Amino acid sequence: MKKMWAGRTAGETDHFADDFNSSIRFDQRLYEQDIRGSIAHAEMLSAQKIIPESAKNHIVAGLEDILSDLQEGVLEVDPSAEDIHMFVEQVLTERIGEEGKMLHTARSRNDQVALDLRLYLKAEIDEILFRLRRLLRVIVDQAEKEKNTILPGYTHLQRAQPVLFGHHLMAYAMMLDRDISRLEDTRKRTDVSVIGSCALAGTTYDTDRGLEASLLGLSRVGENSMDGVSDRDFAAEFLFDCSVLMMHLSRFSEEILLWTSWEFGFVELDDRYTTGSSIMPQKKNSDMAELVRGKTGRVYGDLMTLLTVLKGLPLAYNKDMQEDKEPVFDAVDTITMCLDVFTPMIATMKVRRENMKKAAQKGFINATDLADYLTRKGMPFRDAYKISGKMVSWCMEHGTVLEEVSLDRYREFSALFDEDVYDAIDLENCVNRRISEGGTSASSVERQIALIRKKYEGDV
Ligand code: ARG
Repeated sequence: MKKMWAGRTAGETDHFADDFNSSIRFDQRLYEQDIRGSIAHAEMLSAQKIIPESAKNHIVAGLEDILSDLQEGVLEVDPSAEDIHMFVEQVLTERIGEEGKMLHTARSRNDQVALDLRLYLKAEIDEILFRLRRLLRVIVDQAEKEKNTILPGYTHLQRAQPVLFGHHLMAYAMMLDRDISRLEDTRKRTDVSVIGSCALAGTTYDTDRGLEASLLGLSRVGENSMDGVSDRDFAAEFLFDCSVLMMHLSRFSEEILLWTSWEFGFVELDDRYTTGSSIMPQKKNSDMAELVRGKTGRVYGDLMTLLTVLKGLPLAYNKDMQEDKEPVFDAVDTITMCLDVFTPMIATMKVRRENMKKAAQKGFINATDLADYLTRKGMPFRDAYKISGKMVSWCMEHGTVLEEVSLDRYREFSALFDEDVYDAIDLENCVNRRISEGGTSASSVERQIALIRKKYEGDV
């Protein structure tokens, strides 16, 4: 393709340099945004009498044809074009002639590419938000089903206190709720029209940036042209949001991996989301969860890539910024793939309630409740804590558990113990007495579920 920018330079560029310089390999993904942006630009130019209406009509019709030809595969992207913006303009001029050359009035590829990326990301954020709400619903549904299932809660990966599985799952619902609100917030700062910033300084033409923004469905016009072409904060923010989201999915995946291990046996995944081993016939591996955990690293890498590309750039546009797109595309693809597997995997997982219960019955996870019992009877908590600890050691020495110790034996440790101690350390009571706001009692879990459902109305 002949260079459209061959103004000052006369000599040909080296073909390795051409390949190196070209971004069409990846930015062809933006063709729809690019063409929609150009249609709005032509409309604005004509409304402002910067180009004749007849030229505008030919440009718009030509662009619409290019769009549908690309969508239908009738027209193929030329890999030798420098980028998608050059390609579209070149095809337009080939097809409609001289009037095609009027399109690039009062704009530059610098504001054009920034606009395209914003239009693209705004739409992708909506797609991701849709998927996140779907995952949130799946988690809340599971939490509802498991709102009376007791399992050990862990700290330091040691059994700590009994909790409801519904409560455990709702912890992830809260994380996802924040992930959603972070993306919604980023969307607001993405939803800005920077077209009209031109190369960096604005333009001498009497453009109407507000009109162009509204034709594109964008809410605001950027206030500073140099910022408009240099700002990629919205993309960095998006990648940060994706990184935190992936961190959450990764922690959830790690728990799935633990829960599906032979040692825990808390959860079984549907066969559709597991694999076997090529050598060990007994294996059922949770590869999907491992991959979600693994792909988290990629998304962190995408964030680091963009932040590093931007950190040393003087204003305004620099070609380094061409490197902004691949990390964004990679994160979009990765998140989308992860959510499309993770969501049905959680929806179809089987909870082994009996195994959870059994695990909760061992490991003295009611030792805090034993101490709380003595405290309620008047002993200072620190002393009660010591007695409870001594009883745990005694039980371990004698191969028994707190529930099995006789009342006489309890009384040897403290005269405050009574028949009602067995009630106090009963696992179900331990859980359901934790009525503090945000605690693990069934009533608290119900409150959390209702809160999320109300916030997302029909969606969750
Ligand atoms: N392909 C370029 C990019 O992705 C488009 C902008 C080119 N601008 C320029 N002044 N060379 O950033």
